[in-house]
Amino acid sequence: MQMERWWDFLVSFILLSPLVILLLHRRRKTSGNGRLPPGPPGWPILGNLFDLGSEPHKTLAQLRHKYGQVIWLRLGVRNTMVILSAKSAAEFFKNHDLSFAERTVTENSRVHDYHKSSLALAPYGTFWRVLRRLMTVEMLVTKRINDSASVRRKCVDDMLFWIEDEASKLRESEGVHVARFVFLMTFNLLGNLMLSKDLLDPKSNKGSEFFKAMTSLMEWNGHANLADFFPCLRRLDPQGLRKNMERDLGKALEIASKFIEERINERESRKEKRKDFLEVLLEFEGNGKDEPDRISGRDLNIFVLEIFLAGSETTSSAVEWALTELLCNPESMNKAKAELAQVVRPDRKVEESDIENLPYLQAVVKETLRLHPTIPFLIPRKAMRDTNFMGYFIPKNTQVFVNACAIGRDPDVWVDPLCFKPERFLDSKIDYKGQHFELIPFGAGRRMCAGVPLAHRILHLVLGSLLHHFDWELDGSVTPETMDMKDILGITSRKLKPLHAVPRKCT
Ligand code: HEM
Repeated sequence: MQMERWWDFLVSFILLSPLVILLLHRRRKTSGNGRLPPGPPGWPILGNLFDLGSEPHKTLAQLRHKYGQVIWLRLGVRNTMVILSAKSAAEFFKNHDLSFAERTVTENSRVHDYHKSSLALAPYGTFWRVLRRLMTVEMLVTKRINDSASVRRKCVDDMLFWIEDEASKLRESEGVHVARFVFLMTFNLLGNLMLSKDLLDPKSNKGSEFFKAMTSLMEWNGHANLADFFPCLRRLDPQGLRKNMERDLGKALEIASKFIEERINERESRKEKRKDFLEVLLEFEGNGKDEPDRISGRDLNIFVLEIFLAGSETTSSAVEWALTELLCNPESMNKAKAELAQVVRPDRKVEESDIENLPYLQAVVKETLRLHPTIPFLIPRKAMRDTNFMGYFIPKNTQVFVNACAIGRDPDVWVDPLCFKPERFLDSKIDYKGQHFELIPFGAGRRMCAGVPLAHRILHLVLGSLLHHFDWELDGSVTPETMDMKDILGITSRKLKPLHAVPRKCT
């Protein structure tokens, strides 16, 4: 383009922008069949991408003051509705769950057709129903979870040993990176529950290759892909995310398929069956009508990956936040430790059967997830059809963010919403099982987290064990007053500055 024409273009663009914004703004209010929810005006083409900030869940929560409890954004080409209050979440899940039961499929998850075999992303239909039933009714039924309690205890013992070992190599006031050990432990634990395999066994090369490929996948998945907002960029792959995903997902799928092959061979030679998640999938036989006859090899591989993606970073991030809050609130730390000392007693380890007798520990977990929901926008839903929601017209295919962070801090339902006060849950029936819409760190409705019964046990067992086994202190570099509480949004919302804390073994 010649210089003067470029200049003309720029001047016209600047002059016309307000007009375009005004037009978009007007369209937003009345669009086609009805009124869209209110929201910030946004820029031509980019829409509201600049309104998100570095902590989008918190930035969007602030917009409630100006625009109300349900807002409308345009993220590139994507129409987006954001739910910001407990009241609108209740309306969404109670009266409109079915209309929004599909997921938004991202570019990253299209790689190797991952989304076609994924339980978390599957369209609302038979395939999803089959996998969801297998998971909730067979894999995570109370008896099966009880039967695997010793596996979890062993993995947690390993973690305590790793932490102790690491601390012994550090200087007095140097802290360990707690979340890293919780992540490793959860990864190994899920490997055991899924495949009866110790993936972190130092002798297993395949185990460590798998771990590497999976952690890279989590890294790539944590980046927003520009092609999601501007589909014209799909082919260009400007951030190289598709290329990286293709390589690492390909590798992870290949290793998962070898693990499964090994287990199938072993299964044929063993008389006694393993009681792991894979066995449930291998035993599946369809109903001869609409269901598939068997779960295909491809679907098995992806299911295995999904369990790791769904369970490991979520758990480690939640435990990191819980310990951070307790270290910043010593009174709560003392109460949690005193309860453990009284109920479990110093000479015994925490067991899952103790959880029901540890109301303060339960309150700490709830309060942590209220303030720091690990997946703050849940897994985005999508409107399956044009829908009338709270008087607004929501067009088909609109993506929906349910902002669990804004809801957990909703001043209409929480007193002192920004304070960490586990006591608020002691005389309260509120829990996170999907019936109380003011606390939805695991979501709610049909697409609610399928792993809640397992996650509930792991979180309490891990946090309880960390507190019962060690006395914790902040490392020398930080105090409760100077602790950085910012988070960074990737697959989960993690603490931006990882917690390094000093463990001292309780005597
Ligand atoms: C602290 C731990 C965890 C947290 C905070 C968490 C949170 C969530 C959230 C917010 C969703 C989306 C819910 C919605 O859209 O309404 C979800 C979905 C899901 N979670 Fe979890 N999760 C955790 C652990 C686990 C574990 C351990 C597993 C499996 C063993 C698991 C399996 C799943 C699956 C399969 C889905 C998709 C459900 C569907 O689309 O039907 N999660 N989780």
